[in-house]
Amino acid sequence: MQITIALTKGRILEETLPLLAEVGIAPLEDISASRKLLFDTSRSDVRLLVLRGSDVPTYVQFGAADLGVSGKDTLLEHGGDGLYEPLDLGIARCRMMTAAVAGVAAGSGRIRVATKYVNVARRFYAEQGRQADIIKLYGAMELAPIMALADEIVDIVDTGNTLRANGLEAREFIADISSRLIVNKAAMKMKHRLLQDIVDRLTEAVKKVR
Ligand code: PRP
Repeated sequence: MQITIALTKGRILEETLPLLAEVGIAPLEDISASRKLLFDTSRSDVRLLVLRGSDVPTYVQFGAADLGVSGKDTLLEHGGDGLYEPLDLGIARCRMMTAAVAGVAAGSGRIRVATKYVNVARRFYAEQGRQADIIKLYGAMELAPIMALADEIVDIVDTGNTLRANGLEAREFIADISSRLIVNKAAMKMKHRLLQDIVDRLTEAVKKVR
């Protein structure tokens, strides 16, 4: 029986590989130096996929991957259909916030909000009872309030340096973010022993390094 684990390049890959190594799973070649997207590992029954971050939940939801590591921001945006989220890996911690031009009072009427997290933003402003038109962007959200494309943005904030460098300030907290292990629900039944073993051992590995 084969197990497929979906990861994404960058910080998630760098911080997940040591955890996988702790449970005896190591790629047979240097992933960050390769253009390949599918990698064999030291365990003949485990393969690794390298995807765009926002595609990881999709692969795991549909069972094209059994396991995945995904940011909570991506999961909140994607929704949890078909997925279990058994473990907080504690990697890439930050917060999802609203932000606006520093010192400018929030308007009381209908506002425009630019974000790549359109579902999260729609839910958040609806819960607040605030009327918001959501504008989808794919990056550089910090420019939107400065260029009067939007009144506010919804983005992840770590140090706050990016906001400050662009004359913005964080306003309202939406959620704590970190990377999570996700598991396909059907695979968790069909391949229970293999997957539960990996989940348990990763849980121990996370305890050890944190
Ligand atoms: C995120 C986010 C901000 C920045 C916040 O971008 O979109 O731009 O980090 O971090 P800070 O508060 O420490 O400045 P990221 O670098 O993850 O790249 P992205 O724009 O591709 O999401």
